Amino acid sequence: MGKFAERMVETAGRKKSRIILALDLPPSTPNLLGEGLNLLSRVSRSLCAVKFNRHLLLPLGLMEGVKRLVDHAHSLGLPAIMDCKLNDIGSTNLAMAEWFFKAGFDALTVSPYVGWKGGLEPVFHLAKKLGRGLLVLAYMSHEGARQTFGKPLLSGGRLKPAYQVFASWASRWGADGVIVGATRPAKIAEVKRILKGRVAIYSPGVGFQGGSVEEAVRKGADYLIVGRSILQAEDPLEAAESLRVRAWRVKPT
Ligand code: XMP
Repeated sequence: MGKFAERMVETAGRKKSRIILALDLPPSTPNLLGEGLNLLSRVSRSLCAVKFNRHLLLPLGLMEGVKRLVDHAHSLGLPAIMDCKLNDIGSTNLAMAEWFFKAGFDALTVSPYVGWKGGLEPVFHLAKKLGRGLLVLAYMSHEGARQTFGKPLLSGGRLKPAYQVFASWASRWGADGVIVGATRPAKIAEVKRILKGRVAIYSPGVGFQGGSVEEAVRKGADYLIVGRSILQAEDPLEAAESLRVRAWRVKPT
């Protein structure tokens, strides 16, 4: 198990939480940085990590506002994940990964569609050298993912659904996690079998996108990535705490 995967197991166990907050504050938010810092302080006790996306990266800048938020997450004992879905040629992926790691991110998301040689290989080498994590997309949570992640891919001379091939690659590449949408609990179970419990499953899509907390964890999700169900709740702390308790008491089958 990689260092990041170990840190997630330790943090989740200590906090009794599988909940990763997707800190996706909408563009209309006044004082984005202040609100982000404040929200993190308020809900951190219910979380095991924080995930960032372009929502804050674009307006706040990586080495400015986002770095302050990452430092704040660390001061609260939370690992920080950048959901950048790296999907370019290797040298460009490497440049992006170097900047994200320089800003303090503990893990990044990557797209398997660019493949290994000249695609993700240099990023995996860098992450290993720095003891950081990489999470590979296997099946995205939105409806249209069927058109790509659900389609067959030729692998080892046989046609298999792309998400199954991506899960096998993630395991072979030494990834710290695989991402499968909570909107497809049956696929979580299939991917779990492929990973044989050796790689964690991260699952976005509960609540707002229609996925069930209980079903996702029962089928094998180790961590749930949640944004709007917490951010748009009247009381974000109460929402985060309720999700924490619900996800923690489920016994995986
Ligand atoms: P909500 O508001 O729907 O936010 O709880 C979910 C967060 O997760 C991201 N997301 C995904 N990221 N694979 C990913 O790597 C996925 O299948 C996926 N689905 C949602 C989304 O961008 C938001 O930050």
